Amino acid sequence: MDLFSPADHTPVALAEGATWLPGFALPMMQTLWPCVAEALAIQPAMHMMTPMGYPMSVKTASLGEWGWVGSQAGYGYSAQHPETGQPWPPIPAVIMQLAEAAAMAAGFANFVPDSCLINVYAPGSKMGLHQDKDERDFSQPIVSVSLGLPATFLWGGHRRLDKPIKLPLVHGDVVVWGGASRRVYHGVATVKPGQHPLTGAQRINLTLRKAR
Ligand code: SIN
Ligand code: FE2
Repeated sequence: MDLFSPADHTPVALAEGATWLPGFALPMMQTLWPCVAEALAIQPAMHMMTPMGYPMSVKTASLGEWGWVGSQAGYGYSAQHPETGQPWPPIPAVIMQLAEAAAMAAGFANFVPDSCLINVYAPGSKMGLHQDKDERDFSQPIVSVSLGLPATFLWGGHRRLDKPIKLPLVHGDVVVWGGASRRVYHGVATVKPGQHPLTGAQRINLTLRKAR
């Protein structure tokens, strides 16, 4: 099934606990985008490794107390950057406010993330269907913010083989999933070539989580 983005930015219920908030981040974009650009200038995103020893297709950077890392030892959270040994920079206030407001709009009060993963997709990058399951507390939702080039988000089910719904995410869209949907499989189809006025030839995704 393919969904279409409602022109009037009304929220779309995807499943119990899962909501697509089209354009939710647009009102704060003037503050948000410079923060993301600066974060990536200070900490260039890098290709983490899969446990199979291959580089991931997306590049990642992290903000917050806990950063998501991948290596041949597996996936998980670390308080330090794996190459520099430095703590991750703090999550800027505008991103914290966006995460809390989006979670609230989707029915999850008092969401206070301690991790912001920045996924950078060049055209040709994708993310296979997976569950977010490296966090300790599954009562907390995931808040996912899309910036730059459009992408098809794949919203699956509780089994990897469940056929995903395709969502055409664009710049400023937010998707929140928690509760009964917290461990739903999701992914991103191969990003198509293009240019975006703010991000250039890339899609950037912020994934906010309570990791610990
Ligand atoms: C993720 O699942 O970590 C990323 C999702 C996205 O890029 O939209
Ligand atoms: Fe994910």
